[in-house]
Amino acid sequence: MTPRIKDILHTAPAEQLIEAQGWVRTCRDSGSLCFIEVTDGSCLAGLQVVAEPNLTNYESEVRRLSTGCAVKVCGRLMASPAKGQAVEVRAESLSVVGPADPESYPLQKKRHSVEFLRSISHLRPRTNSFGAVVRIRSELNFAIHRFFREQGFVQVHTPIITTSDCEGAGEMFTVTALTGEQLRQPEPFGQDFFGRRAGLTVSGQLQAEIFALSHGRVYTFGPTFRAENSNTARHLAEFWMLEPEMAFCDLACDMEIAEALIKDLIAAVLTNCAAELELFERFISKGLLHKLEAAQAQPFAGMSYTEAVDALQSSGRKFEFPVRWGEDLQSEHERFLCEELAGRPLIVTDYPKEIKPFYMRLNDDGKTVAAMDILVPGIGELVGGSQREERLDLLEGRMREAGLDLEEYSWYLDLRRFGSAPHAGFGLGFERLVQFVTGISNIRDVIPFPRTPGNAPC
Ligand code: 4AD
Ligand code: MG
Repeated sequence: MTPRIKDILHTAPAEQLIEAQGWVRTCRDSGSLCFIEVTDGSCLAGLQVVAEPNLTNYESEVRRLSTGCAVKVCGRLMASPAKGQAVEVRAESLSVVGPADPESYPLQKKRHSVEFLRSISHLRPRTNSFGAVVRIRSELNFAIHRFFREQGFVQVHTPIITTSDCEGAGEMFTVTALTGEQLRQPEPFGQDFFGRRAGLTVSGQLQAEIFALSHGRVYTFGPTFRAENSNTARHLAEFWMLEPEMAFCDLACDMEIAEALIKDLIAAVLTNCAAELELFERFISKGLLHKLEAAQAQPFAGMSYTEAVDALQSSGRKFEFPVRWGEDLQSEHERFLCEELAGRPLIVTDYPKEIKPFYMRLNDDGKTVAAMDILVPGIGELVGGSQREERLDLLEGRMREAGLDLEEYSWYLDLRRFGSAPHAGFGLGFERLVQFVTGISNIRDVIPFPRTPGNAPC
């Protein structure tokens, strides 16, 4: 394997011979020399290659290089006399591995609109900004596993195909092997592959709970699916969710872990993706670095749902959706609370039981549950979590109220029959985290292949 450009740029130049491969970002013909910037996706910066006319293919190929061509360069690594880079390569040979016709190659040096880039998801990774998003995703992914490993968690792989609708919101995509006429039968799923209706998971939580009650501290991190018809800048039909689940942990412990995790992840990108963050600070979101440093330095703010409703009602602000105790907070409310009131990430706790799923632990007031949502500036809800109801009779009551078939969930109830213990967990939307960290406003621009209503082109 040839070295990555990221490593070459950090190598002391001593006229040593090096080899690099990548794609031409720009090619400038100065008359007597050609300056070619080559990138390979390993970092934001490109490698400056200087080509002289003595190269055998100088006229036939080098001078005609254009954005997007794949090239292989062999040359000497020198200190660069020009501003903008510490090192450059004096080419001894430069071959075109794969040409890219400038007449038809869709990416040019100029900035393209995010809408246009979405329409070419196969070439979008070659742009500076989306290339940076992908490296940040990778860094965050790694940092998540490192964090949980250091805290003694065990990773579990929860199923993608499931027969339980964890959130009870009826947003599950159905998975079926039935076709045509078979699907039109009454009660068709009894004859289906699994003998009952199955779907794509909306959350791995219920299965994670099984392992929390055997391994103590676990997490699952994988693709999650919701057939909700929300065409917003923060909803996807397929997104990645991180879900830790901890035994012998209450709501306070749950919040503590979530806050420590988010701060740790911000620190990881501040340290390891500084160039990428600078790009986003300059071109996408002024004040991004300040926002991230502030989120990391101060304790998150906290208030109960009831306090949040009071604060919204007494704010004097006109909201599109009314604020009433018992109604869910809308995105505009969440953003007001954390952006204007708290000015930093905010944890809202103890929501009315009617607006939260059956598995959340009932508080002593009988009206609210031990829930917490973490709201962050620019996004709104980043995390949703709770302490789980570990008391069998109360859980059965909540499930009956929610209209669930207790027989179908007997395995879940068994966890409360045998060795039940207080436990808690949360779900963090990975794409919303990437949005928060990059300042990118639309969730479709932080995932390689966004799936939204009417949109799954490849
Ligand atoms: O609040 P949610 O629905 O919580 C759960 O699914 C719990 N079972 C998690 C748990 O306690 N283990 O989803 C958790 C997070 C949200 O806060 C949000 O960040 C993200 O998942 N999320 C979405 N992200 C993108 N597109 C969507 N359609 C999302 N729905 C939820
Ligand atoms: Mg939620």
